[in-house]
Amino acid sequence: MSGVSDRVATSGVTRIGVLTGGGDCPGLNAVIRAVTKDAIFHGIEVLGIEDGFLGLIEDRVRPLTIEDVSDILTDGGTILGSSNKANPQKYPVGENADGSIRFKDLTDTCMTHLEIHGIEALVCIGGDGTMSAAAPFAQRGINCIGVPKTIDNDLWGTDITFGFQTAVHVATEALDRVHTTAASHHRVMVVEVMGRNAGWISLYAGVASGSDVILLPEIPFDLEKVCAFCLGRSQRGKRFSIICCSEGASPKGGEQIVERVDPTSPDPIRLGGIGKWLSDQIEDCTGIESRYVVLGHVQRGGTPVARDRVLATQFGHHAMHLLRMGKRNRLVVMQGGELGDVEITSAADRQRLVPLDHQLIAAARSVYTCFGD
Ligand code: F6P
Repeated sequence: MSGVSDRVATSGVTRIGVLTGGGDCPGLNAVIRAVTKDAIFHGIEVLGIEDGFLGLIEDRVRPLTIEDVSDILTDGGTILGSSNKANPQKYPVGENADGSIRFKDLTDTCMTHLEIHGIEALVCIGGDGTMSAAAPFAQRGINCIGVPKTIDNDLWGTDITFGFQTAVHVATEALDRVHTTAASHHRVMVVEVMGRNAGWISLYAGVASGSDVILLPEIPFDLEKVCAFCLGRSQRGKRFSIICCSEGASPKGGEQIVERVDPTSPDPIRLGGIGKWLSDQIEDCTGIESRYVVLGHVQRGGTPVARDRVLATQFGHHAMHLLRMGKRNRLVVMQGGELGDVEITSAADRQRLVPLDHQLIAAARSVYTCFGD
Protein backbone atom coordinates (compact mmCIF):
# COMPACT_ATOMS: atom_id res chain seq x y z
CA MET A 1 0.00 0.00 0.00
CA SER A 2 1.35 3.42 -0.95
CA GLY A 3 1.72 6.34 1.44
CA VAL A 4 3.85 9.29 2.52
CA SER A 5 6.83 6.98 3.05
CA ASP A 6 7.17 6.26 -0.68
CA ARG A 7 7.98 9.86 -1.63
CA VAL A 8 11.14 8.76 -3.39
CA ALA A 9 11.45 8.23 -7.14
CA THR A 10 13.07 4.83 -6.76
CA SER A 11 12.56 3.92 -10.41
CA GLY A 12 14.72 6.82 -11.61
CA VAL A 13 12.06 7.95 -14.09
CA THR A 14 12.40 11.68 -14.77
CA ARG A 15 9.83 12.42 -17.46
CA ILE A 16 6.46 10.81 -18.17
CA GLY A 17 3.67 11.30 -20.67
CA VAL A 18 -0.01 11.17 -19.74
CA LEU A 19 -2.89 10.64 -22.16
CA THR A 20 -6.63 10.03 -22.05
CA GLY A 21 -8.01 7.60 -24.64
CA GLY A 22 -11.47 6.41 -25.69
CA GLY A 23 -14.76 8.09 -24.89
CA ASP A 24 -14.71 10.93 -22.37
CA CYS A 25 -15.80 10.07 -18.86
CA PRO A 26 -16.39 11.94 -15.59
CA GLY A 27 -13.22 11.87 -13.50
CA LEU A 28 -10.61 12.05 -16.29
CA ASN A 29 -9.44 15.46 -15.15
CA ALA A 30 -9.29 14.27 -11.56
CA VAL A 31 -6.85 11.53 -12.62
CA ILE A 32 -4.75 13.93 -14.72
CA ARG A 33 -4.58 16.23 -11.67
CA ALA A 34 -3.57 13.43 -9.30
CA VAL A 35 -0.91 12.04 -11.66
CA THR A 36 0.57 15.45 -12.45
CA LYS A 37 0.66 16.73 -8.87
CA ASP A 38 2.14 13.48 -7.55
CA ALA A 39 4.76 13.40 -10.31
CA ILE A 40 5.85 17.00 -9.86
CA PHE A 41 5.99 16.54 -6.08
CA HIS A 42 8.49 13.74 -6.70
CA GLY A 43 10.54 15.70 -9.19
CA ILE A 44 9.16 13.98 -12.29
CA GLU A 45 8.27 16.10 -15.32
CA VAL A 46 4.89 15.52 -16.97
CA LEU A 47 4.04 15.96 -20.63
CA GLY A 48 0.38 15.93 -21.61
CA ILE A 49 -0.34 14.12 -24.87
CA GLU A 50 -3.33 15.63 -26.69
CA ASP A 51 -6.29 13.61 -27.94
CA GLY A 52 -5.07 10.24 -26.71
CA PHE A 53 -2.74 8.27 -28.96
CA LEU A 54 -3.61 10.66 -31.81
CA GLY A 55 -1.38 13.26 -30.13
CA LEU A 56 1.46 10.76 -30.10
CA ILE A 57 0.96 10.04 -33.81
CA GLU A 58 0.80 13.75 -34.69
CA ASP A 59 3.38 14.86 -32.11
CA ARG A 60 1.03 17.10 -30.13
CA VAL A 61 2.57 17.11 -26.69
CA ARG A 62 2.74 19.86 -24.05
CA PRO A 63 4.24 20.20 -20.58
CA LEU A 64 1.79 20.07 -17.66
CA THR A 65 2.39 22.25 -14.62
CA ILE A 66 0.69 22.42 -11.24
CA GLU A 67 -1.21 25.49 -12.53
CA ASP A 68 -2.46 23.53 -15.55
CA VAL A 69 -4.11 20.96 -13.30
CA SER A 70 -5.39 23.29 -10.58
CA ASP A 71 -9.15 23.64 -10.29
CA ILE A 72 -9.97 20.78 -12.66
CA LEU A 73 -10.96 18.15 -10.08
CA THR A 74 -14.67 18.75 -10.58
CA ASP A 75 -14.61 19.39 -14.34
CA GLY A 76 -16.12 16.87 -16.75
CA GLY A 77 -14.30 15.85 -19.94
CA THR A 78 -10.53 15.97 -20.24
CA ILE A 79 -8.21 18.98 -20.54
CA LEU A 80 -6.04 16.85 -22.84
CA GLY A 81 -8.78 15.86 -25.27
CA SER A 82 -9.43 12.26 -26.29
CA SER A 83 -9.91 10.08 -29.33
CA ASN A 84 -11.52 6.67 -29.68
CA LYS A 85 -10.21 6.12 -33.19
CA ALA A 86 -6.47 6.36 -32.75
CA ASN A 87 -4.83 2.99 -32.19
CA PRO A 88 -1.30 3.60 -33.62
CA GLN A 89 -0.99 -0.06 -34.59
CA LYS A 90 -4.07 0.17 -36.77
CA TYR A 91 -4.48 3.77 -37.83
CA PRO A 92 -6.84 4.61 -40.74
CA VAL A 93 -4.89 6.42 -43.48
CA GLY A 94 -7.23 6.24 -46.46
CA GLU A 95 -9.23 3.87 -48.61
CA ASN A 96 -8.23 0.81 -50.59
CA ALA A 97 -9.36 0.40 -54.21
CA ASP A 98 -12.33 -1.70 -53.05
CA GLY A 99 -13.52 1.08 -50.74
CA SER A 100 -12.40 -0.62 -47.53
CA ILE A 101 -10.38 1.36 -45.00
CA ARG A 102 -6.58 1.22 -45.34
CA PHE A 103 -4.80 0.95 -42.00
CA LYS A 104 -1.14 1.59 -41.25
CA ASP A 105 1.01 0.71 -38.23
CA LEU A 106 2.34 4.02 -36.90
CA THR A 107 4.02 2.63 -33.78
CA ASP A 108 7.47 3.64 -35.11
CA THR A 109 6.32 7.24 -35.63
CA CYS A 110 5.04 7.34 -32.05
CA MET A 111 8.27 5.81 -30.73
CA THR A 112 10.23 8.55 -32.50
CA HIS A 113 8.06 11.22 -30.87
CA LEU A 114 8.47 9.59 -27.46
CA GLU A 115 12.25 9.60 -27.93
CA ILE A 116 12.34 13.23 -29.12
CA HIS A 117 10.51 14.31 -25.96
CA GLY A 118 12.47 11.98 -23.68
CA ILE A 119 9.30 10.31 -22.42
CA GLU A 120 10.33 7.24 -20.43
CA ALA A 121 6.91 6.08 -19.26
CA LEU A 122 3.27 6.57 -20.22
CA VAL A 123 0.26 6.84 -17.96
CA CYS A 124 -2.61 5.69 -20.18
CA ILE A 125 -6.03 6.59 -18.81
CA GLY A 126 -8.64 4.61 -20.72
CA GLY A 127 -10.64 1.48 -21.32
CA ASP A 128 -9.93 -1.82 -23.06
CA GLY A 129 -9.14 -0.12 -26.40
CA THR A 130 -6.58 2.18 -24.77
CA MET A 131 -4.91 -0.71 -22.94
CA SER A 132 -4.73 -2.59 -26.22
CA ALA A 133 -3.19 0.45 -27.95
CA ALA A 134 -0.60 0.69 -25.15
CA ALA A 135 0.60 -2.91 -25.60
CA PRO A 136 3.11 -2.34 -28.47
CA PHE A 137 4.76 0.48 -26.51
CA ALA A 138 5.09 -1.73 -23.45
CA GLN A 139 6.70 -4.38 -25.68
CA ARG A 140 9.21 -1.81 -26.94
CA GLY A 141 10.40 -0.80 -23.49
CA ILE A 142 8.16 2.15 -22.65
CA ASN A 143 6.74 1.53 -19.20
CA CYS A 144 2.96 1.84 -19.60
CA ILE A 145 0.79 2.22 -16.52
CA GLY A 146 -2.96 2.00 -17.17
CA VAL A 147 -5.73 3.71 -15.23
CA PRO A 148 -9.16 2.08 -15.68
CA LYS A 149 -11.74 4.46 -17.11
CA THR A 150 -15.20 3.92 -18.54
CA ILE A 151 -18.77 4.67 -17.60
CA ASP A 152 -19.56 1.12 -18.75
CA ASN A 153 -17.64 -0.46 -15.82
CA ASP A 154 -16.71 -3.31 -18.15
CA LEU A 155 -12.91 -3.31 -17.87
CA TRP A 156 -11.39 -6.70 -17.15
CA GLY A 157 -9.44 -7.06 -13.90
CA THR A 158 -11.04 -4.32 -11.80
CA ASP A 159 -14.25 -4.36 -9.78
CA ILE A 160 -14.90 -0.75 -10.66
CA THR A 161 -13.82 1.91 -13.13
CA PHE A 162 -14.05 5.64 -12.45
CA GLY A 163 -16.93 7.38 -14.23
CA PHE A 164 -19.36 4.53 -13.64
CA GLN A 165 -20.87 5.94 -10.45
CA THR A 166 -21.57 9.26 -12.15
CA ALA A 167 -23.27 7.56 -15.09
CA VAL A 168 -25.41 5.55 -12.66
CA HIS A 169 -26.29 8.74 -10.80
CA VAL A 170 -27.34 10.53 -14.01
CA ALA A 171 -29.35 7.53 -15.23
CA THR A 172 -31.03 7.12 -11.84
CA GLU A 173 -32.06 10.76 -11.79
CA ALA A 174 -33.52 10.45 -15.29
CA LEU A 175 -35.44 7.33 -14.30
CA ASP A 176 -36.77 9.12 -11.20
CA ARG A 177 -37.91 12.01 -13.37
CA VAL A 178 -39.78 9.95 -15.97
CA HIS A 179 -41.67 8.37 -13.08
CA THR A 180 -43.77 11.55 -12.91
CA THR A 181 -44.97 11.31 -16.50
CA ALA A 182 -45.40 7.55 -16.32
CA ALA A 183 -47.64 7.83 -13.26
CA SER A 184 -49.59 10.88 -14.40
CA HIS A 185 -50.30 9.56 -17.90
CA HIS A 186 -50.50 5.86 -17.04
CA ARG A 187 -47.78 5.04 -19.51
CA VAL A 188 -44.92 2.69 -19.94
CA MET A 189 -41.68 4.70 -20.01
CA VAL A 190 -38.59 3.07 -21.46
CA VAL A 191 -35.23 4.66 -20.62
CA GLU A 192 -32.32 3.44 -22.78
CA VAL A 193 -28.96 3.67 -21.03
CA MET A 194 -25.40 3.20 -22.31
CA GLY A 195 -22.97 0.42 -21.45
CA ARG A 196 -22.11 -1.38 -24.72
CA ASN A 197 -22.36 -5.13 -24.12
CA ALA A 198 -22.38 -4.84 -20.34
CA GLY A 199 -25.47 -4.14 -18.26
CA TRP A 200 -23.79 -2.55 -15.23
CA ILE A 201 -25.30 0.93 -15.66
CA SER A 202 -28.74 -0.53 -16.29
CA LEU A 203 -28.56 -2.90 -13.32
CA TYR A 204 -27.41 -0.29 -10.80
CA ALA A 205 -29.57 2.60 -12.06
CA GLY A 206 -32.53 0.24 -12.45
CA VAL A 207 -32.25 -0.94 -8.85
CA ALA A 208 -31.53 2.57 -7.51
CA SER A 209 -34.64 3.97 -9.22
CA GLY A 210 -36.88 1.01 -8.42
CA SER A 211 -37.47 0.38 -12.11
CA ASP A 212 -40.14 -2.24 -12.69
CA VAL A 213 -38.26 -3.90 -15.54
CA ILE A 214 -34.48 -4.02 -16.04
CA LEU A 215 -33.16 -5.33 -19.34
CA LEU A 216 -29.51 -6.29 -19.63
CA PRO A 217 -27.43 -7.48 -22.60
CA GLU A 218 -26.46 -10.48 -20.48
CA ILE A 219 -30.10 -11.65 -20.14
CA PRO A 220 -31.94 -11.79 -23.51
CA PHE A 221 -35.55 -10.86 -22.78
CA ASP A 222 -38.83 -12.47 -23.75
CA LEU A 223 -40.99 -9.67 -25.16
CA GLU A 224 -44.22 -11.47 -24.22
CA LYS A 225 -43.08 -11.70 -20.59
CA VAL A 226 -42.23 -8.00 -20.48
CA CYS A 227 -45.65 -7.12 -21.97
CA ALA A 228 -47.47 -9.47 -19.60
CA PHE A 229 -45.61 -7.93 -16.65
CA CYS A 230 -46.65 -4.38 -17.66
CA LEU A 231 -50.25 -5.48 -18.26
CA GLY A 232 -50.31 -7.30 -14.92
CA ARG A 233 -49.24 -4.12 -13.13
CA SER A 234 -51.99 -2.13 -14.87
CA GLN A 235 -54.59 -4.72 -13.94
CA ARG A 236 -53.47 -4.59 -10.31
CA GLY A 237 -53.95 -0.83 -10.27
CA LYS A 238 -50.35 0.21 -10.90
CA ARG A 239 -51.19 1.86 -14.18
CA PHE A 240 -47.64 2.59 -15.26
CA SER A 241 -44.31 0.84 -15.63
CA ILE A 242 -40.73 2.08 -15.80
CA ILE A 243 -38.27 0.09 -17.89
CA CYS A 244 -34.53 0.60 -17.61
CA CYS A 245 -33.08 -0.86 -20.78
CA SER A 246 -29.41 -1.28 -21.75
CA GLU A 247 -28.50 -0.15 -25.24
CA GLY A 248 -27.08 -3.64 -25.72
CA ALA A 249 -30.21 -5.52 -24.59
CA SER A 250 -31.88 -7.78 -27.16
CA PRO A 251 -34.94 -10.02 -27.34
CA LYS A 252 -34.46 -13.78 -27.12
CA GLY A 253 -33.42 -15.10 -30.51
CA GLY A 254 -32.99 -11.51 -31.78
CA GLU A 255 -30.04 -9.25 -32.45
CA GLN A 256 -28.70 -6.14 -30.74
CA ILE A 257 -29.75 -2.95 -32.55
CA VAL A 258 -26.80 -1.15 -34.13
CA GLU A 259 -27.18 2.60 -34.42
CA ARG A 260 -24.09 3.16 -36.56
CA VAL A 261 -20.94 1.51 -37.77
CA ASP A 262 -17.72 3.51 -37.91
CA PRO A 263 -15.19 1.49 -39.95
CA THR A 264 -12.36 3.85 -39.00
CA SER A 265 -12.78 3.03 -35.32
CA PRO A 266 -11.04 0.01 -33.72
CA ASP A 267 -14.40 -0.63 -32.01
CA PRO A 268 -16.70 0.16 -34.96
CA ILE A 269 -20.13 -0.80 -33.58
CA ARG A 270 -22.29 1.83 -31.85
CA LEU A 271 -25.39 0.35 -30.23
CA GLY A 272 -28.69 2.17 -29.90
CA GLY A 273 -32.36 2.01 -30.83
CA ILE A 274 -33.64 -0.79 -28.59
CA GLY A 275 -35.56 1.75 -26.44
CA LYS A 276 -37.75 2.89 -29.34
CA TRP A 277 -38.21 -0.65 -30.65
CA LEU A 278 -39.29 -1.90 -27.24
CA SER A 279 -41.59 1.03 -26.57
CA ASP A 280 -43.36 0.50 -29.93
CA GLN A 281 -43.70 -3.25 -29.35
CA ILE A 282 -45.14 -2.79 -25.86
CA GLU A 283 -47.70 -0.24 -27.06
CA ASP A 284 -48.76 -2.56 -29.91
CA CYS A 285 -48.95 -5.67 -27.73
CA THR A 286 -50.57 -4.23 -24.60
CA GLY A 287 -52.45 -1.15 -25.77
CA ILE A 288 -50.75 0.81 -22.99
CA GLU A 289 -49.40 4.11 -24.23
CA SER A 290 -45.63 4.03 -24.24
CA ARG A 291 -42.75 6.47 -24.64
CA TYR A 292 -38.99 6.14 -24.70
CA VAL A 293 -36.02 8.30 -23.73
CA VAL A 294 -32.44 7.70 -24.93
CA LEU A 295 -30.05 9.14 -22.34
CA GLY A 296 -26.95 8.93 -24.55
CA HIS A 297 -23.97 11.12 -23.81
CA VAL A 298 -25.51 13.01 -20.89
CA GLN A 299 -24.34 9.96 -18.90
CA ARG A 300 -20.74 10.85 -19.76
CA GLY A 301 -20.91 14.58 -19.26
CA GLY A 302 -20.63 17.00 -16.39
CA THR A 303 -19.01 16.91 -13.00
CA PRO A 304 -18.09 13.54 -11.45
CA VAL A 305 -19.95 12.48 -8.31
CA ALA A 306 -17.91 12.46 -5.09
CA ARG A 307 -17.21 8.72 -5.28
CA ASP A 308 -15.70 9.09 -8.77
CA ARG A 309 -13.55 12.05 -7.68
CA VAL A 310 -12.20 9.98 -4.81
CA LEU A 311 -11.64 6.90 -6.99
CA ALA A 312 -9.96 8.95 -9.73
CA THR A 313 -7.61 10.53 -7.18
CA GLN A 314 -6.79 7.13 -5.66
CA PHE A 315 -6.20 5.61 -9.10
CA GLY A 316 -3.99 8.52 -10.22
CA HIS A 317 -1.91 8.34 -7.06
CA HIS A 318 -1.60 4.57 -7.28
CA ALA A 319 -0.50 4.76 -10.94
CA MET A 320 2.35 7.05 -9.87
CA HIS A 321 3.13 4.86 -6.87
CA LEU A 322 3.55 1.83 -9.16
CA LEU A 323 5.69 3.84 -11.54
CA ARG A 324 7.91 5.19 -8.80
CA MET A 325 8.30 1.73 -7.30
CA GLY A 326 9.63 0.51 -10.62
CA LYS A 327 6.67 -1.69 -11.50
CA ARG A 328 6.32 -2.12 -15.25
CA ASN A 329 3.31 -2.33 -17.55
CA ARG A 330 0.62 -2.59 -14.91
CA LEU A 331 -3.03 -1.62 -14.83
CA VAL A 332 -4.29 -0.04 -11.61
CA VAL A 333 -7.28 -1.98 -10.32
CA MET A 334 -9.66 -2.09 -7.38
CA GLN A 335 -10.36 -5.61 -6.20
CA GLY A 336 -12.42 -6.36 -3.10
CA GLY A 337 -12.10 -2.74 -1.99
CA GLU A 338 -8.27 -2.76 -2.20
CA LEU A 339 -6.11 -0.96 -4.73
CA GLY A 340 -3.91 -3.31 -6.70
CA ASP A 341 -2.48 -3.89 -10.14
CA VAL A 342 -2.56 -6.46 -12.93
CA GLU A 343 -0.65 -6.88 -16.19
CA ILE A 344 -1.82 -4.07 -18.49
CA THR A 345 -2.37 -6.34 -21.48
CA SER A 346 -4.72 -8.57 -19.49
CA ALA A 347 -7.39 -5.90 -19.89
CA ALA A 348 -6.86 -5.36 -23.62
CA ASP A 349 -9.93 -5.96 -25.79
CA ARG A 350 -11.77 -7.88 -23.07
CA GLN A 351 -15.06 -6.99 -21.46
CA ARG A 352 -16.24 -7.71 -17.93
CA LEU A 353 -19.93 -8.51 -18.20
CA VAL A 354 -22.50 -8.78 -15.41
CA PRO A 355 -22.40 -12.37 -14.10
CA LEU A 356 -25.83 -13.98 -14.11
CA ASP A 357 -25.43 -14.93 -10.45
CA HIS A 358 -24.59 -11.34 -9.40
CA GLN A 359 -26.01 -10.55 -5.95
CA LEU A 360 -27.72 -7.39 -7.18
CA ILE A 361 -29.73 -9.37 -9.74
CA ALA A 362 -30.92 -11.62 -6.92
CA ALA A 363 -31.75 -8.59 -4.76
CA ALA A 364 -33.69 -6.98 -7.61
CA ARG A 365 -35.63 -10.16 -8.26
CA SER A 366 -36.53 -10.30 -4.57
CA VAL A 367 -38.33 -6.96 -4.90
CA TYR A 368 -40.25 -8.31 -7.93
CA THR A 369 -38.15 -6.62 -10.61
CA CYS A 370 -38.70 -8.24 -13.98
CA PHE A 371 -35.64 -9.07 -16.11
CA GLY A 372 -37.78 -10.31 -18.98
CA ASP A 373 -36.60 -13.92 -18.59
O1 F6P B 1 -17.82 3.21 -23.78
C1 F6P B 1 -18.51 4.35 -23.41
C2 F6P B 1 -19.70 4.59 -24.33
O2 F6P B 1 -20.36 5.75 -23.89
C3 F6P B 1 -20.65 3.41 -24.44
O3 F6P B 1 -21.50 3.28 -23.34
C4 F6P B 1 -21.35 3.74 -25.73
O4 F6P B 1 -21.86 2.57 -26.32
C5 F6P B 1 -20.25 4.34 -26.57
O5 F6P B 1 -19.25 4.80 -25.66
C6 F6P B 1 -20.68 5.48 -27.44
O6 F6P B 1 -19.59 5.88 -28.19
P1 F6P B 1 -19.53 7.25 -29.02
O7 F6P B 1 -19.25 8.37 -28.07
O8 F6P B 1 -18.44 7.02 -30.00
O9 F6P B 1 -20.88 7.44 -29.66
